[in-house]
Amino acid sequence: DEAALAERFERTVAAEERIEPRDWMPEAYRKTLIRQIAQHAHSEIIGMQPEGNWITRAPSLRRKAILLAKVQDEAGHGLYLYSAAETLGVDRAELLDLLHAGRQKYSSIFNYPTPTWADVGAIGWLVDGAAIVNQVPITRCSYGPYARAMVRICKEESFHQRQGFEILHHLSSGTPEQHAMAQDAVDRWWWPSLMMFGPPDDASPNSARSMAWKIKRFSNDELRQRFVDMAVPQAEALGLTLPDPELRWDAESGHYRFGAIDWTEFHEVLRGNGPCNALRVEHRVRAHEEGAWVREAADAYAAKHAARAGA
Ligand code: ACO
Repeated sequence: DEAALAERFERTVAAEERIEPRDWMPEAYRKTLIRQIAQHAHSEIIGMQPEGNWITRAPSLRRKAILLAKVQDEAGHGLYLYSAAETLGVDRAELLDLLHAGRQKYSSIFNYPTPTWADVGAIGWLVDGAAIVNQVPITRCSYGPYARAMVRICKEESFHQRQGFEILHHLSSGTPEQHAMAQDAVDRWWWPSLMMFGPPDDASPNSARSMAWKIKRFSNDELRQRFVDMAVPQAEALGLTLPDPELRWDAESGHYRFGAIDWTEFHEVLRGNGPCNALRVEHRVRAHEEGAWVREAADAYAAKHAARAGA
C-alpha cells in the first residue's frame, strides 16, 4: 500500500541509494525533478545560441573547431537531459512546447549578449565554471537517471571551462586591446554568473524540500561561495580583475567575501526582460519550426522499419 511504498522511498533516499524510474515516488518529487531537469535541458540548448553566434567568426581554424565541438557537446547534454526527464513520464515534445510558450524556465545566464570574441572565453571560464560547481553535486542526486547523466556532462564541462580560461589567458597576455577586451567581457559576465546559482537561501522556495530529497546537496549560497573562492585565484592567474570593489579575503571564515548581488536584475531576467530573452526564444522557436521536416522524416523512417519488422 501507499504508506509502505512511501516508507520505502524515504529509506532508499536516507540510505543514499538511488530512486529509479520504475520505483514508487511521491508526486511532488516527480514534479520537482521534471521541473529542474527540463529547466536544465532547456538551458543547454538555449545556451548554444550565445556561443553559436561566434562559430563563423572564430579567429582561427583551431578556435573554430574547438568552439564547434563545444556547442555540439551542449546539444548532447540537452539530449541526455531530455531523455532523463522522459524517464519520469513526460514527453520531450511537451517540454519543448512549454519552453516555447514561456511556461518553463531556462537559466538566466543565457539572456546576455556576446558582442566580442572574449565573451566566448568568459562564458567558458565563468559560466561553465559555475555550471561545474553546481552540477558536480548532482552526480550524487537521489534520482538515478539524472545523477548518471551528470557524470559525462561534468567531464565535458571541465573541458569547456579550460578552453574558456585558455582563450582569456591568451587575450589577457596579448596586445593592450586584447587585454581590454578580455577585461570587458569578465566585467560583464561576473555578476550574472553569480546569479546562476539562484536566489539567496532565504528566498529560495524549493531548496528545503529538494535538499531533504537529496536532489540538491548544497544550498544556492553554499555553491555560490564555493564558486567565488575558486574564481578569485584564477582571475589573479589570468591577470584580470573581478568587478567587485568589496571582494576581499576573510581569513576568519577562510572565504572571499563579496558585494551585494543585484537581485532586481535577476528577477527582471526571469520575467523575460533581460537583454536577449526575446531573441533567444524567437530563435529557438524558429529553429524548431524549421526542423519539423527532420522530425517527420525520422517518424516516417521509424514507421517504415516497424512495418517491415511486423511483415
Ligand atoms: N535562472 C533561471 N531561473 C532560476 C535560476 C536561474 N539562474 N535560479 C533559480 N531559478 C528559478 C528556479 O527554477 C525557481 O523557479 P520555478 O520554481 O518556477 O522553477 C525559482 O527561480 C526559485 O529558485 P529555487 O527555489 O532556488 O529553485 P531550485 O531549487 O530549482 O534551484 C537551481 C535553482 C540551483 C538552478 C537548480 O534548479 C539547479 O541546480 N538546476 C540544475 C542546474 C541547471 O539548471 N543549470 C543550467 C545552467 S548551467 C548550463 O547549462 C551550462
